[in-house]
Amino acid sequence: MKELKVSAINKGTVIDHIPAGRGLKVLEILNLSEDSTILVAINVRSRKLGRKDIIKVEGKILNEEEVNKIALIAPTATVNIIENWEVTEKRKVEIPDEIIGIIECANPNCITHYEKVKPKFKVVSKKPLKLKCHYCERTMEEDIVLKHLL
Ligand code: CTP
Ligand code: ZN
Repeated sequence: MKELKVSAINKGTVIDHIPAGRGLKVLEILNLSEDSTILVAINVRSRKLGRKDIIKVEGKILNEEEVNKIALIAPTATVNIIENWEVTEKRKVEIPDEIIGIIECANPNCITHYEKVKPKFKVVSKKPLKLKCHYCERTMEEDIVLKHLL
């Protein structure tokens, strides 16, 4: 079988099973420091997803809060913690209770479009996804949320 091999890492965090095409957006949301060593694989063949993206952050163990920010755009992602070349922890990303940044409010009159404040939403329901703007209280469902990614 022909297979593209993506290098294994010694220590760090592997975010696997990212929907194909979302890898770069995920990388942007993670907002990693500029000196991070990162391997990105785009459109890798996957049995589960057909195609997927993968991000490997070398030397850094990302915590749940850092990784869960990506849950809205990569709900299928698996987070693997690597130590001594071995996967020591594997978990799914989980939608946090509060979303700051990442998406903009769907209400054109919301203060977040006029003042220098970061959009902030309370997660009213995770499944089906429903968010409520902290400032104007507009609620947004999944289809609308995905149309308002920053
Ligand atoms: N990985 C890595 N470096 C290592 C070990 C694993 O980069 N030293 C990566 C693998 O390439 C894979 C991910 O971490 O992308 C998870 O590894 P593993 O659990 O061994 O793979 P699978 O069993 O295919 O994972 P899953 O069941 O989540 O699909
Ligand atoms: Zn709003």
